[in-house]
Amino acid sequence: MRWMRAAGRGLLALIVVMTGYAASGSEAVGGTGRGPLTLATAGDLTGYLGPLLRDWNRAHPAERVTLVELPDSADETHAQMATDLRRGGRGRFDVLNIDVDWTPEFAAAGWVRPLARAGFPLKSFLPPVVDTATYEDRLYAVPYVTNAGLLLYRKDILDKEGVPAPRTWAELEWDAKTIAPEYGLDGYAGQFLPYEGLTVNVAEAVYSAGGTILGENGRRVTVDSAAARRGIGFLARGVREGWIPEAALTYKEEESRRAFQDGRLLFLRNWPYVLAPSAESKIAGRVGVAPLPGPDGPGVSVLGGSNLAISTHTRHSESAVRLIQYLTSEPVQRRVLTEGALPPVRAALYQDAGLVRRYPFLPTLRTAVLSAAPRPKSPRYDQVSLAVQAVTHDVLTGQETSAQAVRRLAKELDRITQR
Ligand code: GLC
Repeated sequence: MRWMRAAGRGLLALIVVMTGYAASGSEAVGGTGRGPLTLATAGDLTGYLGPLLRDWNRAHPAERVTLVELPDSADETHAQMATDLRRGGRGRFDVLNIDVDWTPEFAAAGWVRPLARAGFPLKSFLPPVVDTATYEDRLYAVPYVTNAGLLLYRKDILDKEGVPAPRTWAELEWDAKTIAPEYGLDGYAGQFLPYEGLTVNVAEAVYSAGGTILGENGRRVTVDSAAARRGIGFLARGVREGWIPEAALTYKEEESRRAFQDGRLLFLRNWPYVLAPSAESKIAGRVGVAPLPGPDGPGVSVLGGSNLAISTHTRHSESAVRLIQYLTSEPVQRRVLTEGALPPVRAALYQDAGLVRRYPFLPTLRTAVLSAAPRPKSPRYDQVSLAVQAVTHDVLTGQETSAQAVRRLAKELDRITQR
C-alpha cells in the first residue's frame, strides 16, 4: 500500500494499533488522545440522539460528547460543516455525521481522516453502505444510518377503491389524477424545493427510467439521454397537469411529511422516518408502503443515509474512534431504528423476527436499500448537485423543456467535472 510507505511503516502501524485509524498527513496538527468531543449532525428530526449520547456521557465522563445540531436541510448542514472544517485546527467539530454523498469531497479536501477498516464491523453492514464511506479505495468514514426512498400511500383510500399500490408511473399518474380529487386530496409529492432533496428525487426519476447523471468515475457526463429526459419529464408533467401540487415545489422532507400526515396527499415519496408513529399525524394506521414506481415496474431509490467521519484536526481521535464504535454497535443500531426511526446499517437487524413484527416495512426497506443506487461519486459533488437542482427546478416551473434542460445540465456538468 502506497500510503503506508509514504507515512513511514513502523510509526503508522503503531498509531493504527493504538487508535484504530490510519493517520493522515496532517497528524501533527491533530492528536491521538482521549478527551471530550463535539459531534456535528444535521437536524435530529426524531430527537433520539440526546438520550443515546447521555448514555455514552454517563459511561465516559472524560470523553463527554457535545451534540451540535445543524439545520434540517442537507445543503445548509454541508455549508456549516465545510466552514468549520476549513478553519483547520480552529474548527469545533471532532466527529461529523456526514451525508453519504459527501465522502469524496471531504476526503479529497483532507478534512477527514482515513480510517483503518479493521477498527470497525464493516462485514456486519449492508454491503452498499460501505461503498459510500470509501474514496479511492480507502475508508474515510463509517456507515451509521442508511436510507432509501419509498412510496407512502393512503391505504384506506386505495383499499376503498379496490386498487393495489401503483407499481408503474402510469398507475401512479392515473390514481393521482383520478382518485385523489374524489377525496379532495392532492395527488403526489416528493421533495422538489431546489436543495439536495430535489437532486435525490430527480436522480430517482432518471435512474428509474434507465438513465444516469455521471459515469462510474464521476468524470464522464452521461445525463443528456432519452432516459433522463423521460425521468425529468415525468415530474414536470405532474406539475403541469396538477397531480403534483405546486406547493410541492417548496417542500423539503418535513413539509412533505406534514402535507401527507395532515391528510392532504394521496401519495408521498419520502424516507422511512415518516413511518414512525407520530402524535401529529391525522392519518395514523391508514398508511401503506411500497417500492417507488418506475416506468414499467418498480423504480430505483437513491441510497441515502449518513456516515461518521473524524476531523483531521481533532485532538481526541482515539475517543472519536471509540464513539463511532459505540454508535455502530448492535445495541445502539437497534435504538437507531426503535428510537430514531432511522434505517440502521447492521444487516442482521432487518431479519430480526421481533423487529420485523414491530416494523412490518423492514423487508421492503431492506430490498429498497440493497437495490438503491448511489448518487454520482465526485469530489465536486456539491457543485454537481447544485447544477442538477437549478436546472431541473427550471423544468418543474415550466421555464424549460426537459430536452433543453438535460442539454444545459450536461454542459454545466462538463464544466464542473473537467475543471
Ligand atoms: C436524507 C438522506 C440523505 C439525503 C437527504 C436529502 O437525509 O439520508 O442522504 O441527502 O435526505 O434531503
